[in-house]
Amino acid sequence: MSTILHLDSSARRTDNSESSYNSISKKLAAGFIGEWKMRRQNDTVIYRDLSQTPPDFINQDWIAAVFTDEENRTKSQQKLLAVSDTLIDEVDKADIILISSPMYNYGMPAVLKAWFDQVIRIHKTFTFDLARGDYPLEPIMSEKTLVLITSTGEFGFEPGGIREKINHLGPHMKVMSKYLGVDNFYEIRSEYQEFGDDRHKQSITNAKTEIVKLVNELTHPAHA
Ligand SMILES: Cc1cc2nc3c(=O)[nH]c(=O)nc-3n(C[C@H](O)[C@H](O)[C@H](O)COP(=O)(O)O)c2cc1C
Repeated sequence: MSTILHLDSSARRTDNSESSYNSISKKLAAGFIGEWKMRRQNDTVIYRDLSQTPPDFINQDWIAAVFTDEENRTKSQQKLLAVSDTLIDEVDKADIILISSPMYNYGMPAVLKAWFDQVIRIHKTFTFDLARGDYPLEPIMSEKTLVLITSTGEFGFEPGGIREKINHLGPHMKVMSKYLGVDNFYEIRSEYQEFGDDRHKQSITNAKTEIVKLVNELTHPAHA
């Protein structure tokens, strides 16, 4: 049995009366879960809509609490870290982290960055040791898979694409995910939303096909 941590982050919902207002990334991620459940109905899904319940931004008190030894933390410091503790616990339980994200201003939505800031935490998800030389950080967890499903208004953000160099969404997430124990990173993109033409339709169709393919690959007994 596997556990999937499913995080949505678009500000848009999926139940608008005008369907074009609905979130594409959320819908595709729901499709991923649907495909998964058809093959592995007993697997557990932990779900969060980060836009509906955004994690707090970290602040100076949060950082001070993190750098205080656990046994010396005051009650208020423990309380301050309670959200982070809960979110990290969900990451710890997850074999697969499924994140759906729109591209906002060439990167991820603030609510998703707030989640990463809450969960990438010293002594919990990574250790820091200057004896390691120029790369003092090491992840504590391992063997997790992250599947990122994105929707963008423009196109060409893939490696070799015309906007590769201004894509700060997938590449940024791939770097950070290492500190959550992610060893396998997959990205499925839907593009052209702002053009609304056949290329957009085709891009969604391609994303759905890639989702089925990836779910088949990940639910194959070799990954059980
Ligand atoms: C605030 C905002 C910023 C956006 N910035 C970008 C951008 O930098 N590049 C891009 O290609 N599309 C951009 N878009 C378009 C979205 O990525 C696109 O609408 C996508 O489908 C949103 O995801 P969703 O359908 O899951 O809500 C932006 C949209 C919004 C609302």
